[in-house]
Order: sequence, then structure tokens, then C-alpha cells
Amino acid sequence: MLVGKASPEDYNLHPSQYPWATDLYNQAVRNTWFPHEIALKEDLDDWAKMTEDERHAVEFLVAFFNPAELIVNRSIALGIYPYLKSAECHLYLAKQMWEEANHCVAFEYVLQTFPLDREKVFSLHQQVPSMKEKEDFINKYMKRMTEDELDVSTPDGKKDFVRNLVATNIVMEGIWFYSGFMVALSFRQRNQLRNVGSLVTWVLRDESLHLKFGINLIHGILEENPELLTQEFAEEIRNIVIEGVNLETTFNRDLFPRGILGLNADYVNQYVQYVADRRLIELGLEKHYNATNPAKWMSTATDVFELVNFFEAQNTNYEVNSGDSEKKKAS
Ligand SMILES: [Fe+2]
Ligand SMILES: [Fe+2]
Repeated sequence: MLVGKASPEDYNLHPSQYPWATDLYNQAVRNTWFPHEIALKEDLDDWAKMTEDERHAVEFLVAFFNPAELIVNRSIALGIYPYLKSAECHLYLAKQMWEEANHCVAFEYVLQTFPLDREKVFSLHQQVPSMKEKEDFINKYMKRMTEDELDVSTPDGKKDFVRNLVATNIVMEGIWFYSGFMVALSFRQRNQLRNVGSLVTWVLRDESLHLKFGINLIHGILEENPELLTQEFAEEIRNIVIEGVNLETTFNRDLFPRGILGLNADYVNQYVQYVADRRLIELGLEKHYNATNPAKWMSTATDVFELVNFFEAQNTNYEVNSGDSEKKKAS
């Protein structure tokens, strides 16, 4: 069983019950990277030439992402990890938590490099209503896991676990983060902030695994607990996703009060709807928006395993020790 109180045999990795989680752990380890591998000097030159509206968008994104990475960790540490029995899942989540810390450090690196007012950036997520509402949404679901007495042996407890997972993993990591990544990478599309773009590509590659893990976990839990498979609960999950899209739509209007070259709130929000439809389908639900992808170039950026970064002439697909693992495979 995936969800429940851990018993001594749950510390054994063998025989493996959830090999998909071990596979994701191994892939995540191969994807290991460090923010300071990328120099941001050229981006700083770009910054000097950017308009106020462009700078506002960058500042706004960093203000959202920096705490959001640690909120995901809090959700894993207090709301997901303790309620799972599977050793393979624990292994993966331990690596994911390091990655979220690494993402936070990556955004911190951007924050330290650019001439941004740190105090202001750190206070924005509590001051801007559209940003605060996103955080409150996540905290509402997480609170049931962290502050209330939760018994995951009951269907109600399991439902709360899944609700938190949908809010944190599907909505925050799988929709809001993708919306932010698209905006960040759109600068690189216009030949600006190319090195920040590389950092974001690495973050995105990690996040695509986090999402894969979360979706597998949700499907696994629903399979093992068929009593949760009601029309009513499916509708509830769908509504959590729709509520998340609504919050993101308002946030993006504050991100782009006027729009910048080639990008405005409507464009980003159409992408958000397109991504949300994909997430609904991945959850086994019907799509809601029928939106087309306005940022077709992002499909290359999300297929990160194949992505070659032509600007830096550096393959972002590089893997730590990939040479060793190739040798192992060959031997
Ligand atoms: Fe992250
Ligand atoms: Fe993540």
C-alpha cells in the first residue's frame, strides 16, 4: 500500500512494489545540477536594457517562485512523506526535497545578481493580493495535513491527502510553475536573459519529474483505494484545478498589467488553460477549456530530455555521471 502507517518491512527496498518511483529517483539523481554552473553576467547586461514592465515581470516571478519552492518542501515533509509507507516513494521524495531547495537557491542566485530590492521582493508574496491568494489556496489544503488530526486509514483522511497532492503537485508545480517558466523562457525566445533561461530549463526538467511522480502517486492511491473513485470526488478534484487556474489568471494580470513585447496576460492565460487541460487528462478527467497552445515553442522546452540549448552551445540534457552509467550499460 502507498498510503498508511509505516511498518518495519516498509524500510526494505526489496522486493520493490513501486519500481516507477525507483526509476524516477534514478533519473532525478542523473539530472543533478548546481545553479552557479551558469554565469549570469550577460543577463545583467540585458537587464540594463529592459523596460520597466519587463523588469516588473521578472521581479514578480522571482517573488512568487522563491517562497513557493519551500512551500512545496513543507507540503512534502509534513503533508506527503509522513503518510506514505512506500520506501521507494520516500527515496524519491528525499531527492525531490533537495531539488526544491536547489531551485530556491537558484532563484536566490538570480535575486543576488540582479539589482533588485531584496526586501521588496521578499515582501511581495504577502502584499500583492493575487500572490497571497495563491499561497492561501495551498495552505488551506496543507493545513488539513499539518494542523488537523488526520487519519489516512479512513476514506476521508485519504481524500484529504489526495486534495493536498492535487493542490501542491498538480496546481502549483504542474500549472502555476509552468506558467512562470513559459514567461521566463519567453525572454530567451527574444534573445534576452538566456542564462536565466538555462537555469529555468533545468528547474523545468526537475519539475517535469515531480509532476510525473505526483500523477503516478495519485493514480496508484486511487487504484489501491477504489472507494475513493466516486463521481463526486472526481468533480471535487476537477474544481481544485479550475480554482487554481482562476487564481493564476488574476495573478497573470498583475504580472502583465500592460503587456510586454510579444507577451500579455491573455496569451499567458491561454497557455495556463492549455496546460490545465493536459493535467486534467493526465488525471483521467475530461478537459475543461479546450484551449490551444499559444506558445507552441514551449512544447520543445517541455520536452526537456531532448532539448539542446543552442545559445550556450551546451546540451542542457547533460546528466551527472552519464558517462559512467553508459559504461555500466555497455559492460
Ligand atoms: Fe521546484
Ligand atoms: Fe517541484
